[in-house]
Amino acid sequence: MSEKALIDELRDRVRRSPLPRHVAIIMDGNGRWAELRGLPRLEGHRAGSEAVRAVTREARSLGVEALTLYAFSAQNWARPDEEVGGLMQLLAEYLDSERAEIMDNAIRLEAVGDLDRLPSFVRERLERLRADSRGNGGMALTLALSYGGREEIVQAAQRLARRGGGPEGITEEALERELWTSDARLPPLDLLVRTSGERRISNFLLWQCAYAELSFSDILWPDFRELALLQAVGDFQTRERRFGLTGAQLAEGARGP
Ligand code: IPE
Ligand code: IPE
Ligand code: MG
Repeated sequence: MSEKALIDELRDRVRRSPLPRHVAIIMDGNGRWAELRGLPRLEGHRAGSEAVRAVTREARSLGVEALTLYAFSAQNWARPDEEVGGLMQLLAEYLDSERAEIMDNAIRLEAVGDLDRLPSFVRERLERLRADSRGNGGMALTLALSYGGREEIVQAAQRLARRGGGPEGITEEALERELWTSDARLPPLDLLVRTSGERRISNFLLWQCAYAELSFSDILWPDFRELALLQAVGDFQTRERRFGLTGAQLAEGARGP
């Protein structure tokens, strides 16, 4: 079977079952992809933009409500200046080149992370597209930039403390409301995918991962395409999410949180 036929068949199958509402991806392996080809690491990041485009299109056409992409972590600032600078440049280029497609497809662009740390030439482009796409009713495409899960929880706790509700004001719901993902109006995380064979979370969506399904792919991010996304979603659809209940309770129609 050709790859195209395989994709079409898998897509039809995936469409017949409930989709994850919110898929997040740790897009890892750009550096290794480049090194394997004797290229500078930045070429791997550049090639990764192509995967972003393909995966965004596929998620959008399937009808996924929210796609969140880990593009740059709070810890990635410690990489060599040249790599950080190159990544910021690519990000600005991405925001320019994808603007039309984002608007044409009614995608709402969002961002989570400590965005104040981004250089102004990135932040301005990001804020402009975010504002312009705010009313779009299609998929939410969220870029996690200068993002850390621990950092997100700490800033949520700080915001909550500033509200002055005292210890009783600290509830799960109240803290969750202060997370960056709540500012971005994202549904609960259903599926977290990590590429490149690494099996760790690397400070991504720590709070939101509580009951997400995890999926690991050995594919390096620049090679990740529609088929790999459909496989991850198809695998998700075979899982039984119990949310702490027993399988028998679920069979009787009980629902988790
Ligand atoms: C992921 O690819 C992209 C970023 C972290 C910005 P890496 O750059 O981490 O690639 P590897 O893991 O070194 O191969
Ligand atoms: C996580 O990848 C961050 C992004 C994909 C943006 P890293 O490559 O930075 O994570 P570690 O260092 O392998 O844990
Ligand atoms: Mg990596």
